[in-house]
Amino acid sequence: MSKAILVTGGAGFIGANFVPYFCAKYPEYKVINLDKLTYAGNLQNLSECENMPNYTFVKGDICDEKLVSELFAKYDIRGVIHFAAESHVDNSIKGPKAFIETNIGGTFNLLENARRYWMEAPGKFKPGYEECRFHHISTDEVYGTLGETGLFREDTPYAPNSPYSASKASSDFIVRAYHHTYGMNVTTSNCSNNYGPKQHDEKLIPTIIRKCLAEQPIPIYGQGTNIRDWLYVLDHCKAIDLIFHKGKSGETYNVGGFNERNNLQIVNTICALLDERRPRAKGKYADLITFVADRPGHDLRYAIDSTKLSRELGWKADENFDTGIVKTVDWYLQNRH
Ligand SMILES: NC(=O)c1ccc[n+]([C@@H]2O[C@H](COP(=O)([O-])OP(=O)(O)OC[C@H]3O[C@@H](n4cnc5c(N)ncnc54)[C@H](O)[C@@H]3O)[C@@H](O)[C@H]2O)c1
Repeated sequence: MSKAILVTGGAGFIGANFVPYFCAKYPEYKVINLDKLTYAGNLQNLSECENMPNYTFVKGDICDEKLVSELFAKYDIRGVIHFAAESHVDNSIKGPKAFIETNIGGTFNLLENARRYWMEAPGKFKPGYEECRFHHISTDEVYGTLGETGLFREDTPYAPNSPYSASKASSDFIVRAYHHTYGMNVTTSNCSNNYGPKQHDEKLIPTIIRKCLAEQPIPIYGQGTNIRDWLYVLDHCKAIDLIFHKGKSGETYNVGGFNERNNLQIVNTICALLDERRPRAKGKYADLITFVADRPGHDLRYAIDSTKLSRELGWKADENFDTGIVKTVDWYLQNRH
């Protein structure tokens, strides 16, 4: 029997990598992609799906109670994979309201509709709906910041520092509460920084590439010493697929690649790759690096311990940063420049 899965935010960066992968891997699923198409959503990134018979796009807001309720009934939704969010930390500093509405209110609305559609009473699924699962995609930013050592584990206390991470932390807790209170079948993944094809132009790696090719200053916050743990986006998609199908209900799983790099290392790596692929008429791309005033409250370091996911579900990243960044730079050169 074909089973309908509601994917939210599938036109964003990670969703647009996940949806084609998931539709191709599971022809027996009908994938309904609900996306509001904010500035971050781009249907061109889903052109591979246009002719897939098991793919449907719905433009709409995850906060819209009537629409979400209608979608559950119309398609008989049997699973939710929830990406949709306001996701850019800088935007959350300038205008936090949309983050609270979408990330907290939208997640609540999806959970509440899933509960009503799948469950009869706390701890009791409607007959035939026992396998229905809600997978929530979250971030390592909920854990706050690290000093020079240490890793975020699933039991690290939450300490979000930005309006973005605070809104994601809140949504994680609502998901948790729906499991503990209503017995809903939920899983959550907290992932480190993703990179790869289809990312919005304003994010770090696309910005570096764009500025290089435009021969403009490449802005780097502070001294470029902030460290992130970088994961190739398709490895994240594979982890979500695995957790959605094999994860234990009520559990959270950290996803990360053990690939810590600071911003200076990132920019230098990209500049060196571009020096080989599209050399400048004069000088090196790294000459364009310019340090700008740091972001307020900029977390120093994030690093994820994904041992639980590897040990319990057998996940392993296929790319490391050195292989993933080559694929990424080549994709932007072929598709955006
Ligand atoms: N990008 C990362 O490095 C990263 C790392 C860890 C976790 N995450 C999480 O993964 C998820 C996806 O991140 P991303 O980088 O692809 O984000 P993105 O900003 O690129 O995409 C978000 C998508 O959600 C849609 N959207 C926003 N508000 C909506 C609403 N109210 N209703 C319906 N759709 C809406 C947008 O149109 C867009 O298509 C987010 O939940 C984010 O917190 C991202």
